[in-house]
Amino acid sequence: MTLKEVDSTNTFLKNILSNSKPVPDGTVIMAEHQYAGRGQRENTWLAEPGKNLTFSILLRPSFLSASQQFYLTCAVSMGVYDALYPLLRDSLKIKWPNDIYFGDSKLGGMLIENILQGSQIKHSVIGIGINVNQEIFAADAVNATSIKKILQKDYELKNILAEICNHIEGYYLHLKAGRLEFVRNMYLSRLYWLNEMRQFKSNGHNFEGTIINVKENGLLVVKQENGEQEYNLKEIEFLNK
Ligand code: BTN
Repeated sequence: MTLKEVDSTNTFLKNILSNSKPVPDGTVIMAEHQYAGRGQRENTWLAEPGKNLTFSILLRPSFLSASQQFYLTCAVSMGVYDALYPLLRDSLKIKWPNDIYFGDSKLGGMLIENILQGSQIKHSVIGIGINVNQEIFAADAVNATSIKKILQKDYELKNILAEICNHIEGYYLHLKAGRLEFVRNMYLSRLYWLNEMRQFKSNGHNFEGTIINVKENGLLVVKQENGEQEYNLKEIEFLNK
């Protein structure tokens, strides 16, 4: 379903779910214009109307427990990655936990909101934003890029959407078949800054370290002078020079 205008496709899907309307598994809601798009860490997600992909997918991964939520992040990130790879090749990376990067610039991101029931995932609302044909970004979005900025060409949103959904389905089926570690290993192999000595910030201080792993629960493992440390999303910042 395509909406001309909505606050946020994630909020829209969550609202219809909480009104107990039957929503089929795999439903995709796409918006031409999101006027209150939401990002991670309570950020807003801005996208020029009609030029970008902003959509949400509903899944019911009842075969995953709440403690396995991170595998869904891996599957969705890899689905987006594989869909864009034929266009963008090896500069494409996944920045932990689920940003899509081209070189050092952000091309897209996702906001996965899981609705839990006990220790199971009841619904998963998977919101994805990819910058496609937008050429000008707000001054404060310093490292934002788009497919058009990279390849100097316009792309049909619906075609990219179809590729992304197909690839996500492929990875989702891997998870369903129990191949969780295969999916996590694919994700790891595409990770931005993996095994590279880089600068990070945590708890107000800067340090050098090397990302060596992302654990089953999604924690980032960074090796430093004084040993290995694990971080969640709010605890660490990547410092680009
Ligand atoms: C991020 O990088 O911070 C995540 C961005 C997620 C944006 C998408 S656009 C479609 C869906 N609806 C929202 O309100 N957010 C997600």
